[in-house]
Amino acid sequence: MKRYIAPSVLAANFLDLRKDIEMINNSVAHFIHYDVMDGVFVPNISFGLPILKQISQIAKKPIDVHLMINDPDPYIIPFKEAGAANITVHMETCHHLNRTVNFIKEQGIMAGICLNPHTPVSTLEEVLPLADMVLLMSVNPGYGGQSFIESTYPKVEKLRNEIDKRGLKTLIEVDGGVNYKTAKKLFDAGANVLVSGSFVFKSETPEKTIEKLLNI
Ligand code: DX5
Ligand code: ZN
Repeated sequence: MKRYIAPSVLAANFLDLRKDIEMINNSVAHFIHYDVMDGVFVPNISFGLPILKQISQIAKKPIDVHLMINDPDPYIIPFKEAGAANITVHMETCHHLNRTVNFIKEQGIMAGICLNPHTPVSTLEEVLPLADMVLLMSVNPGYGGQSFIESTYPKVEKLRNEIDKRGLKTLIEVDGGVNYKTAKKLFDAGANVLVSGSFVFKSETPEKTIEKLLNI
């Protein structure tokens, strides 16, 4: 099973962002995870287009944009133009998810569908073949540094079975509370991409932490 690590810049030092992006560039990480929050769908506001534009000028890894915003459709093209290689939208925020996912793919980038911890895997029944990636939230979205919700493991297993049963290549990404302990169990359960924010950036040697997460 392919394994990827996506450090989340939500936990970076914004006063020295270049240094943290360069750290990710020099690490074995595969993606840069970029969390966009609107203060409506989630109870927090993070950052948006102008900062993504600047990051994408120096980023050497594809930028994985996680849109925690209501009605994301008008923002797909602007985020693509700002440098997104992948755009993930929440199942809970889209009235016409099928259309939104297809629209993202029409822009020539990868499309992801994200499920909150309370949203069952069964809601993907019709849309699963459309998505390049499914992002399972292992915390309630809105903040970094929260503790991992244990019911994520059976959710990953269920989704892995479904993807394999249908012969799909959809990647399973997990976001929230990823550390050495949870990473091992998540990879074992069938996850492909692990997002990690505070665990990576609060560690003494973030580059080594990324490598250890990948090879756990
Ligand atoms: C939470 C964000 C996450 C966050 C993860 O709403 O979507 O990507 O950065 O942070 P940690 O790894 O600290 O739980
Ligand atoms: Zn995220």
